[in-house]
Amino acid sequence: MGEFVTVLTDDHGVATIRLDRAPVNALNEQVWGEFGEAAAQCTEDADIRAVVLWGGPKVFAAGADIKYMKEVSYQEFFASGGGLQRAFEALARIPKVVIAAINGYALGGGCEWALTADFRYAADNAQLGQPEILLGIIPGAGGTQRLTRLVGVAKAKEIVYSGRFYSAEEARELGLVDCVHPADEVYDRAVETARQYAKGPYALRMAKKAIDEGIEMDLDSALRLETTLFTATFATEDARIGMQSFVDSGPGKAEFKQN
Ligand code: HXC
Repeated sequence: MGEFVTVLTDDHGVATIRLDRAPVNALNEQVWGEFGEAAAQCTEDADIRAVVLWGGPKVFAAGADIKYMKEVSYQEFFASGGGLQRAFEALARIPKVVIAAINGYALGGGCEWALTADFRYAADNAQLGQPEILLGIIPGAGGTQRLTRLVGVAKAKEIVYSGRFYSAEEARELGLVDCVHPADEVYDRAVETARQYAKGPYALRMAKKAIDEGIEMDLDSALRLETTLFTATFATEDARIGMQSFVDSGPGKAEFKQN
């Protein structure tokens, strides 16, 4: 349990990684350390089967703490070895379905935090963007890379070069968010969907690995990775359960054990 980042798991195996650092959930060194711990917990705890990222009902995260960053020298950033990048990498590698529920601002590092999730559900009052350029810097925790892989080169360039804020609806049109919900419903909708995934088979982990790691490779290597992971699913009990259930009862009725 961190001071700013907590992990709370419900009875359905859905953990919420909640950021709470008033007034705008700005990310400082302590926050990224706590993100790393939360990522490790969600990865290792077998009772956690899906994850929701949430900054609370007002703001998702307004980015790295500018008042802190302003004082940090090049040498200090270099020596710190990319703490936020490492924490986001750990979040992105959680081998379970992760959904970001975005209320209010998701800017800079806040938008990049959302980019570590598989899906982004935005409140109708959400505003997303990568405004680093307005500070004379560039995104440094996935905003030039995860964003580009998600929305494509031209749209990522527009978002990063302009530094402008995008409404939830604009972000949906860009492909940056997957769906838009009323602000007081978005968290519940994300949890609801996460609970469905929490009932899914162990194969979901293999699918996430195949897609996320495959996209980093040339096509031949990625297809070999897919074959390896496809074959590996046959070693799971869930594959037996899923196929037997189809034969006995038709599609979509299997009750998986996630092993
Ligand atoms: C530190 C911040 C902050 C931030 C807001 N505040 N954003 N402090 N870091 N990122 C502080 C303000 O200084 C102010 O403090 C209080 O929060 C409320 O902010 P206001 O500006 O008064 O509120 P509002 O008018 O509602 O505007 C909210 C806002 C705006 C749209 C979020 O504050 C804003 O544009 N913030 C900066 C967003 C940004 O540029 N993010 C990218 C950061 S760079 P006081 O003390 O005056 O009340 C980044 C790089 C990541 O993320 C890569 C790292 C490796």
